[in-house]
Amino acid sequence: MAADRGEFSSRFGFLMAASGSAVGLGNIWGFPTNAASNGGAAFLFTYLILAFALAYPALMAELIIGRYARANAVTALKSLSPRPSIKLVAVLVGFVGIVTVSLILSFYSIVSGWMLAYFFEPFMRLLGLNAVGDWLVADTELRNALFVIVFMALTIYIISAGVKDGIEKWASRLMPSLFVILVLLILYVFTLPGAMAGLKAYLLPDFSRIANPQLLVDAMGQAFFSLSLGVGTMLIYGSYISKKENLPTIGSLVALLDVGIAVLAGLLILPAMYVALENGVQIFDANGGLVAGPGLIISVLPALFNTMGIIGGVVAVAFFALMTIASLTSSISMLEVPVAYSVEHHGLDRRRAAVGIGALITFISLVIVYNFDPMFDLVVTYTTEYSQPLLGLFFCLFVAWIWNRNAILEEIRQGCPDAESGLFWKIWPFYIKYICPVAILAVYFQ
Ligand code: TRP
Repeated sequence: MAADRGEFSSRFGFLMAASGSAVGLGNIWGFPTNAASNGGAAFLFTYLILAFALAYPALMAELIIGRYARANAVTALKSLSPRPSIKLVAVLVGFVGIVTVSLILSFYSIVSGWMLAYFFEPFMRLLGLNAVGDWLVADTELRNALFVIVFMALTIYIISAGVKDGIEKWASRLMPSLFVILVLLILYVFTLPGAMAGLKAYLLPDFSRIANPQLLVDAMGQAFFSLSLGVGTMLIYGSYISKKENLPTIGSLVALLDVGIAVLAGLLILPAMYVALENGVQIFDANGGLVAGPGLIISVLPALFNTMGIIGGVVAVAFFALMTIASLTSSISMLEVPVAYSVEHHGLDRRRAAVGIGALITFISLVIVYNFDPMFDLVVTYTTEYSQPLLGLFFCLFVAWIWNRNAILEEIRQGCPDAESGLFWKIWPFYIKYICPVAILAVYFQ
């Protein structure tokens, strides 16, 4: 069984795949704008605490369940449940997770499609095809539909190839490129006038904001979305980790990489926005806050690139390549959840499952594209603000209250023989049992 399920071939492969899942639009787009509108470094500070105190323990819960059960979320949660009634809850949580992650992918692929379209635009201008360039950056249903299809085709292609030859191979190529592009872009933007003002807006803390409950809610939502928690993504990646690996260590590396890239992205986005301001681009919205939502990436930054002449084209290509890579390494981790389930549970062939489920999700995306106004925000809100935190809560409850403590320790001991005397085992069980559920519920009812 283990051999045909697939397994990551190395620690590096797993780290690239898992950090690839975690690092996405949430880091490069969501985090910097959340920080800018929530008191700069005050948000950063709160986010760092929540990421390590709440999201990391929840991430560990998923990785441990996954590696123990070596199966998809439905089967895995069921295998921890002692009684039929609890098995029923397990199946329900696993299923809601599969539906939620599929819906997240259906809106994520729309935004990713925009990134792909903006990536191609400078090439069209270079070829003198200005009309095509204009079409690529005009918000039309046809463009959105076509690029959703292209983006989903790439996602399906990678997932069809399997764990090692698809996910691991592509994440190991794409994630180092993402890092290099990000650092080069930061260095370049730092040389431009206005960048230092952006750095100040990002890094000078406005601690009067820390008491604001909205800041806590935003920071926790951001941390859960960013670490891909609650829907079985990290669980299924955990199920492909070798029993020789030290789970607490690689889990903390994933969290560090995710937070690190988010913090780095802030060093790019906020200085770039203030460079745009210097160049005469409007960066504040009607309420005096920084432009955040879609406007930031698809109007402020392109306007900035346009003021930069020839070099603007190069920077635009690099930036949208960065966004596309970040999206793709995340979208594959989403599609893997339903695909792994149907392969393991219904015996489907992986390629067929990837194409069939991928096509179904693409269809849902197209429905959203053609009914954008009522549907897009609704799907985003339902999946990320309601479903995901609640499911995260259930994963914590399963590990801490239903699963047997000795079995958990046994699982961690594989690859980490002296786990029992380590710091992780002193803190984590308490955290996952009391602190995480209470904190998630508290924020949820905000
Ligand atoms: N974490 C990714 C981001 O920051 C998105 C993502 C990937 C995700 N898999 C997920 C979000 C599962 C929620 C659930 O963009």
